[in-house]
Amino acid sequence: MTRSIAVYGASGFGRELMPLVRAQYGGPGVELYFVDDGTADGVSVLSFDQFLNMTHDEKRVAIAIGNSTVREALDRKCSDNGISVLDVRSATSTVLDNVVLGEGSVLCGYTHLTSDIRIGRHFHANIYSYVAHDCVIGDFVTFAPGVKCNGNVHIDDHAYIGTGAILKQGNPGSPLRIGRGAVVGMGAVVTKDVPAGATVVGNPARPLVRE
Ligand SMILES: CC(C)(COP(=O)(O)OP(=O)(O)OC[C@H]1O[C@@H](n2cnc3c(N)ncnc32)[C@H](O)[C@@H]1OP(=O)(O)O)[C@@H](O)C(=O)NCCC(=O)NCCS
Repeated sequence: MTRSIAVYGASGFGRELMPLVRAQYGGPGVELYFVDDGTADGVSVLSFDQFLNMTHDEKRVAIAIGNSTVREALDRKCSDNGISVLDVRSATSTVLDNVVLGEGSVLCGYTHLTSDIRIGRHFHANIYSYVAHDCVIGDFVTFAPGVKCNGNVHIDDHAYIGTGAILKQGNPGSPLRIGRGAVVGMGAVVTKDVPAGATVVGNPARPLVRE
């Protein structure tokens, strides 16, 4: 049986993901590739069609694209072509009790999901991020490095939480809510709900006003 595994996206994050994929899935009979629709500096990549045309018995992909809309489109492209997506877990990540995690998720080094958490498909948790108890997170949500998501926070699909952001804990029955497609800037301290599509920054986080 020959198996090929690709990291889809050879940008910085893709190159951070490859060692995790190698550690988790590498071994005899497994060939590892980068797939990218563009070019990549210093990394040998295949186009998606080249990967598709390979004659391995099994082909699987880890999607390493930070942009959640592109990530969703690539997920669809893989599924349309019969390629399954991988879950990626750093050996230093932890997942405690009663955690439901959708397919295609990436848990980078030193990330932690504590207990009683539901997370949708293609969640990316970059290094040193955590999700605490009783959080509910939608599909295609992205955490940059060092996000602190405290208990009872609900985050809707396609939200992006920037580096080092802190999300205040909600309460049982009245969670703190981050709306669909919202962006929380790096370093923000979020103390109140963030509406869908809004970008917030600062401490306490406020809508970003562009001059
Ligand atoms: C919030 C964010 C999305 C805004 O991006 P943008 O729309 O391109 O905004 P700009 O860079 O044009 O900045 C607009 C203004 O907001 C300010 N600003 C940008 N991000 C800010 C932040 N996180 N906190 C406070 N102010 C911020 C800028 O200084 C600028 O102020 P000015 O108008 O007084 O000059 C972005 O800055 C951010 O925080 N992204 C997350 C980055 C990250 O975590 N990367 C991880 C990679 S793995």
